[in-house]
Amino acid sequence: MPRTKKPAKKKRSLLSRVRGTKGAAGARPATLAIDVGGSHVKASVLDERGRMLHDRVRVDTPKRLTPQKLVSLIGELVATLPRFDRVSVGFPGVVRGGVVRTAPNLGTERFHGFNLARAIEKRLGKPVRVENDADVQGLAVVKGKGVEMVITLGTGFGSSIFVDGRLGPHLELAHHAFRKDKTYEDELGEAARERDGNEPWQKHVFEAIESLRNLTNFDHLYIGGGNARLLDEKLPPDVSIVSNTAGIIGGVRLWA
Ligand code: BGC
Repeated sequence: MPRTKKPAKKKRSLLSRVRGTKGAAGARPATLAIDVGGSHVKASVLDERGRMLHDRVRVDTPKRLTPQKLVSLIGELVATLPRFDRVSVGFPGVVRGGVVRTAPNLGTERFHGFNLARAIEKRLGKPVRVENDADVQGLAVVKGKGVEMVITLGTGFGSSIFVDGRLGPHLELAHHAFRKDKTYEDELGEAARERDGNEPWQKHVFEAIESLRNLTNFDHLYIGGGNARLLDEKLPPDVSIVSNTAGIIGGVRLWA
């Protein structure tokens, strides 16, 4: 059985930031929002304001996940949730037009070229949008002013960048050089945290913040993902931690 978790209390409803989320389904569509992660697949149904209509459900991501297995897993998760009119999926890799290009932590060799949006549409009979997970997360947290950057600390290292609220190109910083001969994901992903321990991992997160500041001159940096809560040192004033539920809440904004 999927595990459920109570929706975290949000300070500010998405209503104040999302206007007119009219979708194919009409004026008040409900959105099934799915966050596919390297460790868990999470889902909930959101109203047009981005409020969860049901506790989030979560299942472990099976080892050696195949695209077909992912689609049936989503089908099973949905059985426990209220009705919905459209579907948003945050996927941990590069996605173009609903088709997966890379899935570093799931197996690019199995997912490359798979039209995930179409397969889910066929299974659930509703319109589906699939985008990179860090892009979806960012949609839920940015305020719409200046250069805002979002990183996610989980199995992998996610990143997205926004200018005045508009999503910029997806850069896949995870696999770019960070320090020595290592990439951001080599040093900041879950495998690195397990290998190095929390303290060295946290030190590298702080180094990454400065490296990203030099790269993008962000006005604000948001840190999400399941491991963000492990950061216990004081962050610079222009950096903040955001709730991991943003990975789901951002699903509404894919349809804005
Ligand atoms: C992938 C990114 C993804 C991140 C977080 C990385 O390995 O390359 O596309 O956003 O993991 O899931």
